[in-house]
Amino acid sequence: MGLIRWEDRFSVKISKFDQQHQQLVGLINQLYEAMKVGKGQVELGKILEELVDYTRKHFASEEALMLKHAYPQYAEHKASHDRLTQQVIEFKNQYHAGKIGLSIQMMNFLKEWLVNHILDEDKAYSTFFEAKGEK
Ligand SMILES: [Fe+2]
Repeated sequence: MGLIRWEDRFSVKISKFDQQHQQLVGLINQLYEAMKVGKGQVELGKILEELVDYTRKHFASEEALMLKHAYPQYAEHKASHDRLTQQVIEFKNQYHAGKIGLSIQMMNFLKEWLVNHILDEDKAYSTFFEAKGEK
């Protein structure tokens, strides 16, 4: 079983963002599985790269919709995206530099990183986008 199981309460009510969040959950689970079975650094590094790339794409896609509808909390949300991107890049760099290994603690950090962002920040845009007819 994966580290994160998708739950209905994670839904932000915008189907493409739910799909993207599920993709991120999938990547973190993939990383967790690879770590558990003792995959090598190359394999784990590849998944981490993918996580960084997909995170950027996903954030850009949320930001584009926010700009389209002049979301009032855009600036804060963008700042939070930038901070989260930095964190995951830092994580990846430290991993590549051999400064940190992938451990349960690190995996839990990534889990919290994603789940808290969805629950605390992303869910805040649901009603706004819904009112704009997005789904
Ligand atoms: Fe998001």
